[in-house]
Amino acid sequence: MKKNLVLGVSGGIAVYKALEIVSLLVKKNINVDVIMTESATEFVTPLSFQSLSQNMVTCDMFSEPKAWEIQHISLATKADVLLVAPATANIIGKVANGIADDMLSTTIMATKAKVIFAPAMNTNMYENPIVQGNIKKLKSFGYEFIDPIEGRMACGTTGAGKFEDPKVIVDRVLMELHEKKDLVGKNVLVTAGPTIAPIDPVRYITNRSTGKMGYAIAKEARDRGANVTLVTGPTSLEAPKNINVIKISTNEEMKNEVLKLFDSSDIIVKSAAVADFKPKAYSTQKIKKGDGGLSFDLIRDNDILMELGNRKEKQILVGFAAESENLKANAMTKLHKKKLDYIVANDITASDTGFASEDNRVIILSKEGNEIYLDKMSKEKIASNLFDIILEKR
Ligand code: CTP
Repeated sequence: MKKNLVLGVSGGIAVYKALEIVSLLVKKNINVDVIMTESATEFVTPLSFQSLSQNMVTCDMFSEPKAWEIQHISLATKADVLLVAPATANIIGKVANGIADDMLSTTIMATKAKVIFAPAMNTNMYENPIVQGNIKKLKSFGYEFIDPIEGRMACGTTGAGKFEDPKVIVDRVLMELHEKKDLVGKNVLVTAGPTIAPIDPVRYITNRSTGKMGYAIAKEARDRGANVTLVTGPTSLEAPKNINVIKISTNEEMKNEVLKLFDSSDIIVKSAAVADFKPKAYSTQKIKKGDGGLSFDLIRDNDILMELGNRKEKQILVGFAAESENLKANAMTKLHKKKLDYIVANDITASDTGFASEDNRVIILSKEGNEIYLDKMSKEKIASNLFDIILEKR
Protein backbone atom coordinates (compact mmCIF):
# COMPACT_ATOMS: atom_id res chain seq x y z
CA MET A 1 0.00 0.00 0.00
CA LYS A 2 1.22 3.51 -0.85
CA LYS A 3 2.57 5.56 2.03
CA ASN A 4 1.24 9.07 2.55
CA LEU A 5 3.34 12.12 3.10
CA VAL A 6 1.73 15.45 3.86
CA LEU A 7 4.07 18.26 2.87
CA GLY A 8 3.50 21.60 4.55
CA VAL A 9 5.09 24.43 2.59
CA SER A 10 5.53 27.76 4.37
CA GLY A 11 6.64 30.95 2.70
CA GLY A 12 10.28 31.67 1.98
CA ILE A 13 12.63 31.79 -0.97
CA ALA A 14 13.37 28.05 -0.52
CA VAL A 15 9.79 27.14 -1.55
CA TYR A 16 10.94 26.25 -5.07
CA LYS A 17 13.23 23.61 -3.59
CA ALA A 18 10.20 21.87 -2.09
CA LEU A 19 9.12 21.07 -5.66
CA GLU A 20 12.12 18.74 -5.95
CA ILE A 21 11.07 17.04 -2.71
CA VAL A 22 7.64 16.29 -4.20
CA SER A 23 9.14 15.05 -7.45
CA LEU A 24 11.64 12.74 -5.72
CA LEU A 25 9.01 11.29 -3.38
CA VAL A 26 6.51 10.65 -6.18
CA LYS A 27 9.25 8.77 -8.04
CA LYS A 28 9.61 6.59 -4.93
CA ASN A 29 5.90 5.78 -5.15
CA ILE A 30 4.88 7.93 -2.15
CA ASN A 31 1.54 9.74 -2.24
CA VAL A 32 2.16 13.42 -1.52
CA ASP A 33 -0.53 15.88 -0.39
CA VAL A 34 0.65 19.47 -0.23
CA ILE A 35 -0.61 22.18 2.09
CA MET A 36 0.67 25.67 1.30
CA THR A 37 0.48 28.70 3.56
CA GLU A 38 -0.75 31.85 1.94
CA SER A 39 2.73 33.36 1.85
CA ALA A 40 4.17 30.23 0.22
CA THR A 41 1.82 30.78 -2.72
CA GLU A 42 3.50 34.15 -3.30
CA PHE A 43 6.74 32.33 -4.20
CA VAL A 44 5.46 29.36 -6.23
CA THR A 45 1.95 28.71 -7.49
CA PRO A 46 -0.09 25.79 -6.12
CA LEU A 47 -0.37 24.57 -9.71
CA SER A 48 3.33 23.59 -9.72
CA PHE A 49 2.87 21.44 -6.62
CA GLN A 50 -0.40 20.07 -7.98
CA SER A 51 1.22 19.04 -11.27
CA LEU A 52 4.11 17.25 -9.57
CA SER A 53 2.08 15.58 -6.82
CA GLN A 54 -0.92 14.77 -9.04
CA ASN A 55 -3.08 15.80 -6.07
CA MET A 56 -5.11 18.91 -5.31
CA VAL A 57 -3.12 21.37 -3.22
CA THR A 58 -4.71 22.75 -0.07
CA CYS A 59 -4.12 26.44 0.60
CA ASP A 60 -5.91 28.87 2.88
CA MET A 61 -8.61 26.91 4.72
CA PHE A 62 -11.13 29.76 4.70
CA SER A 63 -11.12 29.91 0.94
CA GLU A 64 -12.65 26.43 0.89
CA PRO A 65 -15.49 26.74 3.39
CA LYS A 66 -17.18 23.53 2.32
CA ALA A 67 -14.14 21.37 2.59
CA TRP A 68 -11.77 22.74 5.18
CA GLU A 69 -13.24 21.18 8.28
CA ILE A 70 -13.01 17.76 6.77
CA GLN A 71 -9.81 18.49 4.94
CA HIS A 72 -7.55 19.48 7.84
CA ILE A 73 -8.67 16.50 9.88
CA SER A 74 -8.51 14.06 6.99
CA LEU A 75 -4.98 15.08 5.98
CA ALA A 76 -3.93 14.96 9.63
CA THR A 77 -5.23 11.39 9.86
CA LYS A 78 -4.04 10.31 6.42
CA ALA A 79 -0.43 11.42 7.01
CA ASP A 80 2.12 8.73 7.78
CA VAL A 81 4.61 11.57 8.10
CA LEU A 82 4.03 15.32 8.03
CA LEU A 83 7.02 17.22 6.67
CA VAL A 84 7.17 20.99 6.92
CA ALA A 85 9.67 22.15 4.30
CA PRO A 86 10.67 24.89 4.13
CA ALA A 87 9.66 25.74 7.69
CA THR A 88 9.75 29.45 8.48
CA ALA A 89 10.29 31.06 11.88
CA ASN A 90 6.58 31.88 11.74
CA ILE A 91 5.22 28.31 11.43
CA ILE A 92 7.74 27.04 14.00
CA GLY A 93 6.67 29.82 16.37
CA LYS A 94 2.98 29.15 15.84
CA VAL A 95 3.19 25.42 16.52
CA ALA A 96 5.51 25.91 19.51
CA ASN A 97 2.96 28.25 21.04
CA GLY A 98 -0.18 26.29 20.30
CA ILE A 99 -1.50 28.56 17.56
CA ALA A 100 -3.62 26.85 14.93
CA ASP A 101 -5.04 29.52 12.66
CA ASP A 102 -4.56 28.27 9.13
CA MET A 103 -4.68 24.96 7.29
CA LEU A 104 -1.04 24.02 7.92
CA SER A 105 -0.85 24.89 11.61
CA THR A 106 -4.28 23.27 12.17
CA THR A 107 -3.22 20.06 10.45
CA ILE A 108 0.04 19.90 12.43
CA MET A 109 -1.93 20.35 15.64
CA ALA A 110 -4.44 17.66 14.68
CA THR A 111 -2.05 14.94 13.54
CA LYS A 112 -0.64 12.04 15.51
CA ALA A 113 1.90 11.30 12.76
CA LYS A 114 5.58 12.12 13.07
CA VAL A 115 6.17 15.78 12.22
CA ILE A 116 9.53 16.81 10.77
CA PHE A 117 10.49 20.44 10.23
CA ALA A 118 13.16 21.45 7.71
CA PRO A 119 13.77 25.12 8.55
CA ALA A 120 15.06 27.72 6.10
CA MET A 121 15.50 31.34 7.06
CA ASN A 122 17.92 34.23 7.33
CA THR A 123 20.86 33.47 9.66
CA ASN A 124 20.00 36.16 12.20
CA MET A 125 16.43 34.92 12.36
CA TYR A 126 17.57 31.33 12.78
CA GLU A 127 19.99 32.28 15.55
CA ASN A 128 17.42 34.45 17.32
CA PRO A 129 16.94 33.04 20.84
CA ILE A 130 13.16 33.12 20.36
CA VAL A 131 13.38 30.82 17.31
CA GLN A 132 15.97 28.61 19.01
CA GLY A 133 13.76 28.45 22.11
CA ASN A 134 10.77 27.42 19.99
CA ILE A 135 12.82 24.70 18.26
CA LYS A 136 14.01 23.40 21.63
CA LYS A 137 10.47 23.34 22.94
CA LEU A 138 9.16 21.47 19.89
CA LYS A 139 12.02 18.96 20.11
CA SER A 140 11.09 18.30 23.74
CA PHE A 141 7.59 17.33 22.53
CA GLY A 142 9.03 14.86 20.00
CA TYR A 143 8.92 17.03 16.88
CA GLU A 144 11.95 16.41 14.70
CA PHE A 145 14.16 18.82 12.82
CA ILE A 146 16.36 18.50 9.77
CA ASP A 147 18.82 21.22 10.65
CA PRO A 148 19.52 23.86 8.04
CA ILE A 149 23.06 24.03 6.69
CA GLU A 150 25.58 26.84 6.48
CA GLY A 151 25.99 28.63 3.20
CA ARG A 152 25.31 31.73 1.19
CA MET A 153 21.76 32.89 1.78
CA ALA A 154 19.43 34.44 -0.78
CA CYS A 155 19.77 37.75 1.08
CA GLY A 156 23.52 37.74 0.38
CA THR A 157 24.80 36.89 3.88
CA THR A 158 26.60 33.67 4.77
CA GLY A 159 25.78 31.52 7.77
CA ALA A 160 23.39 28.92 9.18
CA GLY A 161 19.79 28.81 8.01
CA LYS A 162 20.14 27.51 4.46
CA PHE A 163 17.62 24.86 3.45
CA GLU A 164 19.12 21.37 3.49
CA ASP A 165 19.59 19.58 0.15
CA PRO A 166 16.17 18.18 -0.94
CA LYS A 167 17.79 14.76 -1.54
CA VAL A 168 18.93 14.63 2.09
CA ILE A 169 15.45 15.64 3.26
CA VAL A 170 13.84 12.95 1.08
CA ASP A 171 16.29 10.39 2.39
CA ARG A 172 15.23 11.24 5.96
CA VAL A 173 11.53 10.99 5.07
CA LEU A 174 11.98 7.65 3.33
CA MET A 175 13.71 6.34 6.42
CA GLU A 176 10.64 7.26 8.44
CA LEU A 177 8.24 5.76 5.89
CA HIS A 178 10.05 2.42 5.54
CA GLU A 179 7.57 -0.29 6.44
CA LYS A 180 10.10 -2.90 7.55
CA LYS A 181 11.82 -2.20 10.85
CA ASP A 182 13.34 -5.64 11.20
CA LEU A 183 16.94 -4.57 11.88
CA VAL A 184 16.24 -2.58 15.03
CA GLY A 185 18.99 -3.22 17.59
CA LYS A 186 21.34 -4.77 15.01
CA ASN A 187 24.80 -3.43 14.20
CA VAL A 188 25.42 -3.53 10.47
CA LEU A 189 28.83 -2.85 8.96
CA VAL A 190 29.05 -2.05 5.26
CA THR A 191 32.10 -1.35 3.12
CA ALA A 192 31.81 0.52 -0.15
CA GLY A 193 33.77 2.18 -2.92
CA PRO A 194 37.29 1.49 -4.09
CA THR A 195 40.53 1.50 -2.14
CA ILE A 196 43.64 3.10 -3.57
CA ALA A 197 47.28 2.01 -3.51
CA PRO A 198 49.61 5.00 -3.86
CA ILE A 199 52.66 4.76 -6.15
CA ASP A 200 54.09 8.20 -5.42
CA PRO A 201 52.57 11.47 -4.10
CA VAL A 202 50.56 11.99 -7.30
CA ARG A 203 49.88 8.54 -8.74
CA TYR A 204 47.96 5.54 -7.50
CA ILE A 205 46.29 2.37 -8.68
CA THR A 206 42.70 1.60 -7.86
CA ASN A 207 39.64 -0.43 -8.83
CA ARG A 208 36.54 0.74 -10.66
CA SER A 209 33.76 1.46 -8.19
CA THR A 210 31.36 4.37 -7.61
CA GLY A 211 30.23 3.04 -4.23
CA LYS A 212 26.53 3.27 -5.23
CA MET A 213 25.73 -0.35 -4.36
CA GLY A 214 27.36 -0.17 -0.91
CA TYR A 215 25.75 3.18 -0.08
CA ALA A 216 22.33 1.77 -1.07
CA ILE A 217 22.92 -1.22 1.25
CA ALA A 218 23.95 1.04 4.14
CA LYS A 219 20.86 3.23 3.69
CA GLU A 220 18.53 0.23 3.47
CA ALA A 221 19.93 -1.17 6.73
CA ARG A 222 19.56 2.24 8.38
CA ASP A 223 15.98 2.60 7.15
CA ARG A 224 15.16 -0.83 8.59
CA GLY A 225 16.31 0.39 11.99
CA ALA A 226 19.92 -0.83 12.23
CA ASN A 227 22.89 1.05 13.67
CA VAL A 228 24.99 1.32 10.56
CA THR A 229 28.67 2.01 10.02
CA LEU A 230 29.83 2.59 6.47
CA VAL A 231 33.56 2.26 5.83
CA THR A 232 34.03 3.88 2.46
CA GLY A 233 36.82 4.47 0.00
CA PRO A 234 36.88 7.66 -2.07
CA THR A 235 33.57 8.26 -3.92
CA SER A 236 31.68 11.30 -5.14
CA LEU A 237 28.62 10.31 -3.09
CA GLU A 238 27.17 12.40 -0.29
CA ALA A 239 27.75 10.90 3.20
CA PRO A 240 24.29 9.61 4.24
CA LYS A 241 22.70 11.01 7.39
CA ASN A 242 22.21 8.86 10.50
CA ILE A 243 24.99 6.52 9.43
CA ASN A 244 28.43 6.44 11.02
CA VAL A 245 30.59 7.13 7.96
CA ILE A 246 34.30 6.35 8.15
CA LYS A 247 36.35 7.51 5.18
CA ILE A 248 39.48 5.59 4.28
CA SER A 249 41.65 5.34 1.21
CA THR A 250 43.97 2.32 1.37
CA ASN A 251 43.38 -1.41 1.82
CA GLU A 252 45.27 -1.24 5.16
CA GLU A 253 43.07 1.59 6.46
CA MET A 254 39.91 -0.27 5.49
CA LYS A 255 41.19 -3.43 7.15
CA ASN A 256 41.99 -1.59 10.40
CA GLU A 257 38.57 0.07 10.61
CA VAL A 258 36.69 -3.11 9.76
CA LEU A 259 38.61 -5.18 12.29
CA LYS A 260 37.89 -2.64 15.04
CA LEU A 261 34.16 -3.00 14.40
CA PHE A 262 33.99 -6.69 13.55
CA ASP A 263 33.31 -8.13 17.02
CA SER A 264 30.40 -5.79 17.70
CA SER A 265 28.80 -6.28 14.27
CA ASP A 266 25.84 -8.58 13.61
CA ILE A 267 25.86 -8.33 9.83
CA ILE A 268 28.81 -7.36 7.64
CA VAL A 269 28.34 -6.62 3.95
CA LYS A 270 31.60 -6.13 2.05
CA SER A 271 30.69 -4.50 -1.21
CA ALA A 272 33.95 -2.53 -1.49
CA ALA A 273 36.18 -3.03 -4.50
CA VAL A 274 39.36 -3.58 -2.51
CA ALA A 275 42.69 -3.26 -4.34
CA ASP A 276 44.44 -6.65 -4.25
CA PHE A 277 47.87 -5.31 -5.14
CA LYS A 278 50.06 -2.42 -4.07
CA PRO A 279 53.45 -1.19 -5.28
CA LYS A 280 56.28 -3.03 -3.55
CA ALA A 281 57.84 0.32 -2.68
CA TYR A 282 56.17 3.69 -2.35
CA SER A 283 58.20 6.56 -3.75
CA THR A 284 58.07 9.57 -1.44
CA GLN A 285 59.14 11.78 -4.34
CA LYS A 286 57.24 12.09 -7.58
CA ILE A 287 58.73 9.63 -10.07
CA LYS A 288 60.17 11.64 -12.95
CA LYS A 289 59.49 10.37 -16.42
CA GLY A 290 62.35 9.47 -18.72
CA ASP A 291 62.21 8.60 -22.40
CA GLY A 292 61.29 4.98 -21.80
CA GLY A 293 58.41 3.28 -20.01
CA LEU A 294 58.08 2.62 -16.32
CA SER A 295 57.84 -0.68 -14.59
CA PHE A 296 57.56 -1.48 -10.93
CA ASP A 297 56.70 -4.50 -8.83
CA LEU A 298 53.27 -5.00 -7.33
CA ILE A 299 52.81 -7.16 -4.26
CA ARG A 300 49.66 -8.76 -2.82
CA ASP A 301 47.75 -6.73 -0.27
CA ASN A 302 45.38 -7.99 2.47
CA ASP A 303 42.32 -10.01 1.56
CA ILE A 304 40.15 -8.35 4.20
CA LEU A 305 37.11 -10.54 3.67
CA MET A 306 39.17 -13.71 3.94
CA GLU A 307 40.46 -12.51 7.32
CA LEU A 308 36.91 -11.77 8.48
CA GLY A 309 35.77 -15.24 7.35
CA ASN A 310 38.55 -16.82 9.42
CA ARG A 311 37.57 -14.81 12.52
CA LYS A 312 33.83 -15.24 12.12
CA GLU A 313 31.81 -16.44 15.09
CA LYS A 314 28.19 -15.33 15.26
CA GLN A 315 28.29 -12.73 12.47
CA ILE A 316 26.46 -12.97 9.16
CA LEU A 317 29.09 -12.31 6.53
CA VAL A 318 28.15 -11.18 3.03
CA GLY A 319 30.64 -10.72 0.21
CA PHE A 320 30.39 -9.53 -3.35
CA ALA A 321 31.92 -11.19 -6.38
CA ALA A 322 32.79 -9.07 -9.39
CA GLU A 323 33.25 -11.50 -12.26
CA SER A 324 33.88 -11.21 -15.97
CA GLU A 325 33.42 -14.95 -16.68
CA ASN A 326 32.03 -18.11 -15.04
CA LEU A 327 29.92 -15.94 -12.75
CA LYS A 328 28.29 -18.58 -10.60
CA ALA A 329 31.22 -20.97 -10.35
CA ASN A 330 33.72 -18.24 -9.42
CA ALA A 331 31.33 -16.71 -6.91
CA MET A 332 30.69 -20.11 -5.33
CA THR A 333 34.43 -20.65 -4.92
CA LYS A 334 34.77 -17.28 -3.14
CA LEU A 335 31.74 -18.05 -0.93
CA HIS A 336 33.40 -21.20 0.41
CA LYS A 337 37.02 -19.98 0.42
CA LYS A 338 36.17 -16.85 2.41
CA LYS A 339 33.69 -18.72 4.68
CA LEU A 340 30.79 -16.43 3.78
CA ASP A 341 27.11 -16.85 4.53
CA TYR A 342 26.05 -15.16 1.29
CA ILE A 343 27.71 -13.84 -1.82
CA VAL A 344 26.24 -11.37 -4.28
CA ALA A 345 27.60 -12.20 -7.71
CA ASN A 346 27.54 -9.68 -10.50
CA ASP A 347 28.70 -9.88 -14.07
CA ILE A 348 30.85 -6.82 -14.60
CA THR A 349 30.81 -7.19 -18.38
CA ALA A 350 27.07 -6.38 -18.68
CA SER A 351 26.81 -3.00 -20.41
CA ASP A 352 23.45 -1.96 -18.93
CA THR A 353 24.16 -2.66 -15.25
CA GLY A 354 26.99 -2.68 -12.72
CA PHE A 355 29.71 -0.02 -12.62
CA ALA A 356 28.39 3.54 -12.35
CA SER A 357 24.89 2.38 -13.34
CA GLU A 358 21.81 2.95 -11.19
CA ASP A 359 20.90 -0.71 -11.72
CA ASN A 360 22.38 -4.10 -11.13
CA ARG A 361 21.60 -7.70 -12.05
CA VAL A 362 22.88 -10.27 -9.54
CA ILE A 363 22.69 -13.81 -8.25
CA ILE A 364 22.67 -14.19 -4.47
CA LEU A 365 24.17 -17.51 -3.38
CA SER A 366 23.97 -18.85 0.15
CA LYS A 367 26.27 -21.29 1.90
CA GLU A 368 23.31 -23.67 2.13
CA GLY A 369 23.23 -23.79 -1.66
CA ASN A 370 20.29 -21.47 -2.36
CA GLU A 371 20.45 -19.38 -5.51
CA ILE A 372 18.30 -16.32 -6.01
CA TYR A 373 18.38 -14.52 -9.34
CA LEU A 374 17.58 -10.82 -9.20
CA ASP A 375 17.07 -9.51 -12.71
CA LYS A 376 17.91 -5.93 -13.65
CA MET A 377 16.63 -3.62 -10.90
CA SER A 378 17.74 -0.52 -9.00
CA LYS A 379 20.56 -0.88 -6.53
CA GLU A 380 18.08 0.16 -3.80
CA LYS A 381 15.84 -2.80 -4.71
CA ILE A 382 18.83 -5.16 -4.72
CA ALA A 383 19.68 -3.87 -1.23
CA SER A 384 16.12 -4.45 -0.05
CA ASN A 385 16.06 -7.99 -1.48
CA LEU A 386 19.43 -8.75 0.07
CA PHE A 387 18.17 -7.99 3.59
CA ASP A 388 14.93 -9.90 2.93
CA ILE A 389 17.09 -12.91 2.04
CA ILE A 390 19.44 -12.51 5.02
CA LEU A 391 16.47 -12.18 7.37
CA GLU A 392 14.84 -15.14 5.64
CA LYS A 393 11.85 -13.17 4.43
CA ARG A 394 12.10 -14.66 0.95
N1 CTP B 1 37.77 -8.36 -0.91
C1 CTP B 1 38.48 -8.01 0.22
N2 CTP B 1 39.83 -7.80 0.12
C2 CTP B 1 40.47 -7.91 -1.06
C3 CTP B 1 39.74 -8.27 -2.22
C4 CTP B 1 38.39 -8.48 -2.11
O1 CTP B 1 37.90 -7.90 1.29
N3 CTP B 1 41.78 -7.69 -1.13
C5 CTP B 1 36.33 -8.64 -0.80
C6 CTP B 1 35.44 -7.73 -1.62
O2 CTP B 1 34.98 -6.63 -0.85
C7 CTP B 1 34.32 -8.65 -2.05
C8 CTP B 1 34.95 -10.03 -2.10
O3 CTP B 1 36.14 -9.94 -1.31
O4 CTP B 1 33.29 -8.72 -1.07
C9 CTP B 1 35.31 -10.50 -3.48
O5 CTP B 1 36.01 -9.51 -4.17
P1 CTP B 1 36.43 -9.71 -5.69
O6 CTP B 1 37.19 -8.51 -6.13
O7 CTP B 1 35.25 -10.15 -6.50
O8 CTP B 1 37.36 -10.97 -5.66
P2 CTP B 1 38.81 -11.26 -5.14
O9 CTP B 1 38.68 -11.97 -3.84
O10 CTP B 1 39.65 -10.03 -5.14
O11 CTP B 1 39.30 -12.32 -6.22
P3 CTP B 1 39.69 -12.08 -7.76
O12 CTP B 1 40.24 -10.69 -7.85
O13 CTP B 1 40.68 -13.13 -8.02
O14 CTP B 1 38.41 -12.26 -8.54
